[in-house]
Amino acid sequence: MSDINFALVEETRPPIYRAMKYWGKKPHNIWSKYIDNYTPKGGCFLDPFSGSGISILESFRLGRKTIGYDLNPLTSFLIETYFTEFNLENFENEFNSIKQKIQNDSIYKKYFSTVCKNCGEVAIAQHYKDESSTIYEIGVDCKCSKKYLLKKPDEKDHNTKALSEKIELKNWVPDLNFPDSESFTDDFKNKLNNKFYNLWSKRNLYVISEIFNKIENQKNKKLQKQLLFGFIQTIHLCTKMSPPRREKSNRPHSTSWGRSAYLYPNRQMEMNPMHVFESSCLGKQSVKSCYASIATYFDKKPVLAESHSNIKSNAIKNFDIKYGVINILNINDHIEDKSIDFIMTDPPYGGLVKYFDLSLIWLIWLSKIDSKYFPDLSSEITINKKTSNIETYKKRFLKSVQNLAKILKDDGKIVFTFHNKDLKIWNAFLKTLFLSGLKIEKVIHQENKRSGESNVSMPYGTSASDFYIRCSKGAAKKLNTSNEFENFVINKAIEIIAERNEPTPYQFLLNGLLAEISQMGFDLDNFDSNIQKVLDQKVNLIFLLTDNKSNKAGNYWWFKNPSEYIKYPDKKLTDRVEDTLLALLRRKVSIKLDDAIGEVFEKYPNGLTPDTKSINKILEKFATKSGGKWHYKAQDLEKDYTEHTNYIFKLISLGKKFNLKIFVGKREQSENYKNKKLSDFTDFTDVNFLKDFDKKRVKRIEMIDMLWISNNNIVASFEVENSTNFISGIQRGSNLNIEIPKIMLMPDKRKKEFENITDPLFGDQFKKFNWSFMYYNDLDKTLENKNIKLDEFLRTTTKL
Ligand SMILES: C[S@@+](CC[C@H](N)C(=O)[O-])C[C@H]1O[C@@H](n2cnc3c(N)ncnc32)[C@H](O)[C@@H]1O
Ligand SMILES: [Zn+2]
Repeated sequence: MSDINFALVEETRPPIYRAMKYWGKKPHNIWSKYIDNYTPKGGCFLDPFSGSGISILESFRLGRKTIGYDLNPLTSFLIETYFTEFNLENFENEFNSIKQKIQNDSIYKKYFSTVCKNCGEVAIAQHYKDESSTIYEIGVDCKCSKKYLLKKPDEKDHNTKALSEKIELKNWVPDLNFPDSESFTDDFKNKLNNKFYNLWSKRNLYVISEIFNKIENQKNKKLQKQLLFGFIQTIHLCTKMSPPRREKSNRPHSTSWGRSAYLYPNRQMEMNPMHVFESSCLGKQSVKSCYASIATYFDKKPVLAESHSNIKSNAIKNFDIKYGVINILNINDHIEDKSIDFIMTDPPYGGLVKYFDLSLIWLIWLSKIDSKYFPDLSSEITINKKTSNIETYKKRFLKSVQNLAKILKDDGKIVFTFHNKDLKIWNAFLKTLFLSGLKIEKVIHQENKRSGESNVSMPYGTSASDFYIRCSKGAAKKLNTSNEFENFVINKAIEIIAERNEPTPYQFLLNGLLAEISQMGFDLDNFDSNIQKVLDQKVNLIFLLTDNKSNKAGNYWWFKNPSEYIKYPDKKLTDRVEDTLLALLRRKVSIKLDDAIGEVFEKYPNGLTPDTKSINKILEKFATKSGGKWHYKAQDLEKDYTEHTNYIFKLISLGKKFNLKIFVGKREQSENYKNKKLSDFTDFTDVNFLKDFDKKRVKRIEMIDMLWISNNNIVASFEVENSTNFISGIQRGSNLNIEIPKIMLMPDKRKKEFENITDPLFGDQFKKFNWSFMYYNDLDKTLENKNIKLDEFLRTTTKL
């Protein structure tokens, strides 16, 4: 097993994970790779905070023994429901019988009817859009049109709405006040009379309770679960909390519960629950599509074992999936010590998302069917001004991780995902690991959402990404309490920017720094741990800031005096990424965008990760897109390589004529020349003959196109710039001593371009590091001259 030491690329979710809403759903394919890599065949995987259950399903799919708990009963409901036997015909029949009942219901007909402007007949309202409680638009479901129509409300529509508030309910609805929690502001509670059921308009509540009543009376318990599944996907979309989508989105007939909060927007969308229920049961992302996905996603049905909080279940061994509403603080009643091979989990990040409060909207209904679905609100690990402060959070979290350390095998691993921007929470988290006897092996910055073209508008920053923190057992290094923190941050920032060798947006710098700081194990409690502040002190002393107009990732950070901090310059990161992608295209010819992102993540981890949004632009340069793949423009680009290789070969020949030894750059070594590799014609494939050179420096020198060597000394170096950027070419040369002649060789046709370089830095560097240039034609002439000597040849090159 080799470790995963770089970020992976998120794939599109299969329908099974799209049906149910949950906050912070994790990328299934990435978790699958981790579980597969770190849980041996036959081994046991655990996720104690499994939320929507993705990790449980992925682990089971991989054939691992799986334990997935969560104190939120919704997780148990989902696991139970996913694996009930599904019969589409029965399901559709049941659905239709509910639909008929509602459609024939006189109250439904009365309060959802509206006159169709298209045909003048009475039709059904699919939704109402309100502003300050007044309807301004209605979606119409009329026989005269296949599509839903839109209309402006008329007198009757306004009256119907007013009257609907007096509807008498026939069935049970949950009669619960909002709990005491910062999720529910006083203003919110007042507006809704402090009752959950007032989240829905009266007519919506009527329809919902009718649907629920039908489901409650369902005798077939499997079918009941499946209908409930459709039901809970429906109800959060029919409240007063969902605003209409912006007009730009061009989706006037649907809404979403977009923010993870209880809100009372001024503009509201009152969806007809029957329509939402239909699409939740049978639509694109529905119960139906979910089960179709399940049927092919798994090759068998799991043996399920449910753990109950009041009965120890650690002895239960016969299961594929052990699940249940288990508080992590009691997890040791259910799992033996040192029995778990791998734990991967996504713990609550402080109080960022209030999982229990948010899930109540579903659980208040589910728990009418089975009281086990009501959550133990007081035990949630979170921070909530009204119920639990940071101290409670820290205490509970520490106990949690200690419990996990106990049940983990001695050679087992834990991967935590984490993403709070608040350094206090970070610190609590890191300290917890330390106090639980865990040692951080690796911190990887992992972009979460897909970074492909579909997401160009996605925000930068830690919210769009996670840190994956891999730990093993064994005493951690002592926490670093010294005042070294500030120095560490500054030095690391310098290192990151220097390594990138280009102005770096703040967000990229911060992501790199957080990974480094975590790995170091600082105890940040006792001094100012604000990274931004630490760095700000050095602005205009070490760093220079410039505006970033091209994206939202923050100002560009660069050096006031670059040469002071960049000891062994490489090409700019952007140019290196370009080279990497070009090399990938040449190797594979056709690639998917994800292959490109994956390669970049692997080669440029953490602080070195470039803006993934730039990848598309680079690909456009070197490839054409069709059929979802990028195809290398070989016809246009290979000519350049051939010419480049030809001239390198000419330089090899010339060097040999001077009785010199030859080194060709790492990248060029494998290029083809007359059915051989270029390296077949050279004396060295590395520069290890340079004694006492820093490793980094050696690496840079090895990327230079060509070196001529005599008695283990470099006597001349070359960059052949057939089509590549002149400026990036000279960066690496400065890793050689100044006096070594450095020659830039280029096609005659680039003369104008070369003469027009205006960058003053280029000229300075060119002169300072003893560069000169020559054109292909000049070299060809030299080669014809049989008696030429090295000195003479060098004199034919031109200085600036
Ligand atoms: C960040 S979420 C996990 C989301 C999950 N990774 C997913 O893909 O859906 C954290 C979870 O911790 C659960 N949780 C909070 N306190 C808990 C406790 N004391 N014991 C067990 N689970 C708890 C919450 O219900 C929530 O589902
Ligand atoms: Zn009509």
